[in-house]
Amino acid sequence: MRRKLVSANWKMNGSRAANAAWLAEFDGRDLACDVVVCAPYVYLPQVIEGLRGGETGAQNLSAEAPGAFTGEIAGEMLLDLGCRWAIVGHSERRAFYGESNDVIAAKAARAIGLGLRPIVCVGETLAEREAGRTQAVIDAQLDAVLARCTPTQLLAGAVAYEPVWAIGTGKTASPAQVQEVHAAIRARLARVNGAAAAQLRLLYGGSVKPANAFELFTQPDVDGGLIGGASLQARDFRAICETACEAAR
Ligand code: PGA
Repeated sequence: MRRKLVSANWKMNGSRAANAAWLAEFDGRDLACDVVVCAPYVYLPQVIEGLRGGETGAQNLSAEAPGAFTGEIAGEMLLDLGCRWAIVGHSERRAFYGESNDVIAAKAARAIGLGLRPIVCVGETLAEREAGRTQAVIDAQLDAVLARCTPTQLLAGAVAYEPVWAIGTGKTASPAQVQEVHAAIRARLARVNGAAAAQLRLLYGGSVKPANAFELFTQPDVDGGLIGGASLQARDFRAICETACEAAR
């Protein structure tokens, strides 16, 4: 049985005051699921210090080792702070910052090599889905990662399926659509290593809310979620975490 994992992705949101209020409200210590909060780099120390019942993640990391890369953040620095996780290849990184499948794979490999747990994101755009290319796009994204990391190594983290058309749009993929893609992702990984594929946690992300989380999290291949907008309210994020626990029962 895979333990559910719910991760907040605050994206480029927050302030010291807003984060303090969030951290004062959220308490995950009694939750029977794993909780991660991925905050902007500059707020990581605040979250690491104040988060009760969860681990802290970054939203990105450099593919490079420390050195002459102005403005970048190395995985070593994240670990040095006590940050345990990092989102890798979020669609906003792919779309707005030109991160290729190969760069993302390099970041995932670098994170794993350092002992930082990657949440590797994959997903298709609306145009790709409408052109019937969903699986081909996701396969290419996964294959790039599998060229550098084994499924066993990926077990340290998770893979998140985030259809681009469902992120921040209020349009959630239907539970059946999500299950279909998750099953295909697991099958792809199983071609390399069946045992690891069976254990790897696959998260869904894209307009998850307290109201729709249960039907998503009860799909057989959905092991939790990556939560953007709804994670900005501690109460909503907590409700989604509780739903993940309930879905596991
Ligand atoms: P959303 O974002 O929940 O606001 O759709 C999810 C994500 O991008 O991780």
